[in-house]
Amino acid sequence: MTVTGEFGDIDNGHIDPKIYTDQAIYERELEQVFGRSWLFLAHDSQLPKRGSFVQTYMGEDPVLVVRQGDGSVKAFLNQCRHRGMRICRSDEGTNKTFTCSYHGWAYDLEGNLINVPMEDRAYRKEIDKSRWGAVKVRVEEYKGFYFGTWSEDVPEFTDYLGDMAFYFDAVVGRWDNGLELVPMTSKWVIDCNWKFASEQSASDMYHVPFSHASARMALTDKPEEWPMRWGDAPPGRQFSGNGHGSGSVWLPTLGIPDLVSGQDYVDWLVSNQAEVFRNIGEERALKVYAHNTIFPNFSWLGPNATMRVWHPRGPGQVEVWSWTYVPKDAPQNIKADIRRGVQRTFGPAGSFETDDGENWTEVQQVLKGWKARQSKLNAQMGLGHEERDVHGLPGLSNDVFSETAARGFYRRWADLMAGLSWAEIRDQDAARERQETILPKE
Ligand code: FES
Repeated sequence: MTVTGEFGDIDNGHIDPKIYTDQAIYERELEQVFGRSWLFLAHDSQLPKRGSFVQTYMGEDPVLVVRQGDGSVKAFLNQCRHRGMRICRSDEGTNKTFTCSYHGWAYDLEGNLINVPMEDRAYRKEIDKSRWGAVKVRVEEYKGFYFGTWSEDVPEFTDYLGDMAFYFDAVVGRWDNGLELVPMTSKWVIDCNWKFASEQSASDMYHVPFSHASARMALTDKPEEWPMRWGDAPPGRQFSGNGHGSGSVWLPTLGIPDLVSGQDYVDWLVSNQAEVFRNIGEERALKVYAHNTIFPNFSWLGPNATMRVWHPRGPGQVEVWSWTYVPKDAPQNIKADIRRGVQRTFGPAGSFETDDGENWTEVQQVLKGWKARQSKLNAQMGLGHEERDVHGLPGLSNDVFSETAARGFYRRWADLMAGLSWAEIRDQDAARERQETILPKE
């Protein structure tokens, strides 16, 4: 089955550059992609008690995510139903109620309207407050991670994940007591389309030996220990499914030198590897960890302990919200080592992060040219060499140096942009799977 049409022949690895620059396409994305997918909202560790809240975004819509009295988590649009002001202007905190700073309408922890100033005099007691609560978000929890959607049509989150659950569990199910996000969110803006960042996290190991070579050498006096040089990169696989993507080169052991976070961290990894192997299996621990995206815009990097959301801000801008994640039970000095490692690599001024941002910004700049937007871009790496359920890894996969996950990402994006219902998308996925005749290689 081939996805052709206005966005290029994606199944054959042709990408139309206008998907990164066109304002009308962007407006359609907000409705069709961000309005109909599951989006990461918050992690348990950010909402420690009743009334704890964080403000985040679903696409460009601000939402409040709130811990309820019964321990559950609910979310609602951060928009007052009177004149549209934000109900809450803080990024995070703890509240009993939320009061709009414009005229004082007040909402409870679920977003229900509970108080209207001068209700008797100004509204003659005629306003039906039960009809004017904040717009509610559909929320589901997966192992301490909360995802939200505006769609009633999209399948339950575990169905939406599909085989990606195996890859997500490699991080969320890794430690007995789970993980936590280090307090405070790092936020910065990059002048590029959000899909560059999200697709790269799903699919692109190919840039690593080249784009990050200088940064890696600058971080160590032993560059020869870096396993990602051209020509002798270790074997590895890339996974694609439901628009999600994951890829890793395979580790010989969990105790390889970590040149950024230090020897104490490596020693701690080795001393705790039995716990990891028990929870997710030795093979998965060594084969599944590196770059990952849950479609459309939630990504994490296993070696660098960072999770992030790529919030769209127009066709030419993305706002990165990034967290360091750490095993909840790790000692404080190890958590500090991990945090420092993230800051050096994938913090807002981290050397790897700035490598990536420089590439994406430059591509976006080039696409300002009229001629530069006329030619299709090539995403054909590994085309026709996909395999299913090989090397102990579920789902459709390919060599880690391929663009199978990029094509899967853009295919899911195009399905949604075309306005297919989720039932139609499911039927289409089943048909694609039947047509895959490539059998596992011996
Ligand atoms: Fe919120 Fe008027 S806009 S009370």
